[in-house]
Amino acid sequence: MRIGSLQLSSNLLLAPMAGITDFPFRQIVREHGCGLVFTEMVSADGLLRKGESFLKIGQGEHPISVQLFGSDSAVLAEAAGMAQHMGADAIDLNMGCPAKQVVKTGAGADLMRFPQKVKKILIEMRKRTTCPLTVKIRSGWNEREVNAVAIAKLAEDCGVDAITVHPRTKEQAFRGWADWNVIAEVKRAVKIPVIGNGDVGTPFLIQKMFDETGCDGVMIGRGALGNPWIFRMRSSGSPEEKKGVIHRHFSLIEKYYGEEYSAHQIRKHLYWYTKGLPNCTSFHSRLSGLKRKETVWEAIHSYFESIQRRGPCQSSK
Ligand SMILES: Cc1cc2nc3c(=O)[nH]c(=O)nc-3n(C[C@H](O)[C@H](O)[C@H](O)COP(=O)(O)O)c2cc1C
Repeated sequence: MRIGSLQLSSNLLLAPMAGITDFPFRQIVREHGCGLVFTEMVSADGLLRKGESFLKIGQGEHPISVQLFGSDSAVLAEAAGMAQHMGADAIDLNMGCPAKQVVKTGAGADLMRFPQKVKKILIEMRKRTTCPLTVKIRSGWNEREVNAVAIAKLAEDCGVDAITVHPRTKEQAFRGWADWNVIAEVKRAVKIPVIGNGDVGTPFLIQKMFDETGCDGVMIGRGALGNPWIFRMRSSGSPEEKKGVIHRHFSLIEKYYGEEYSAHQIRKHLYWYTKGLPNCTSFHSRLSGLKRKETVWEAIHSYFESIQRRGPCQSSK
């Protein structure tokens, strides 16, 4: 798959997820074949005011797309130029965040309601960047205002290189199901690559999205939590593989956040990695009280040892 000048090694992409797609997680999915990673959404305004404390791109962390959110065209354009200068291989505009504190500032999904504003923003962002520029949209504001196709065409006319469609409305937030028909409609309406997103938690569903919508790429969010193997179109890793990846992930977290904060950071990932494994609930409750890196390591070792003693693994579900 190609996005503007960027040739990707895979058409499976990691979704931007606030609080989750940090450097260690992006590294883990990249090592499992993910074609393009996105940062979590970064405030354009914050980036301009605080620079590097708002955006860190690791060494060798390419290709990477930086997702920006904001509502002011001049601020977004300047931030896009700055992010490119800081090493972004692509810039993505967030037009899908439904969070109240974002929408009330006119950013995120609120942009879907104002095509003329979007046009101004994209034209200015395009002028300030030479790397690929993409947008991530929803189906619309609510079920009466589904305008993904119109926004996608407008974005294409402004020189955007690819569009990601998460076909839920802003009002739906993350409830209900994504309506993949909207992805198919956008795909039929534009010539630039279309990336489908929403409810692709298994290799079967990923393939189904490709087949049913004709999309060029699939962006995976929640399905990648604790499961980087999904980028190799595998349902999951074996317990042995999980243990290996947990070690790698924990080491990356330690290096990135420092020892003191590492136990806190790895815990949520441990829940995801071990979900569905035997006795995972007692492992999860044991984890919740652990604050020191050494005790978390110990808990991981003894948990996986106990699984291995049980012999061939069955899911506890
Ligand atoms: C915890 C969390 C944080 C998210 N943060 C962002 C974000 O920063 N920017 C964005 O465009 N979407 C964000 N999303 C939405 C995802 O990128 C994606 O569109 C959504 O989860 C649907 O895909 P999935 O069904 O594969 O998870 C977030 C989703 C979750 C669950």
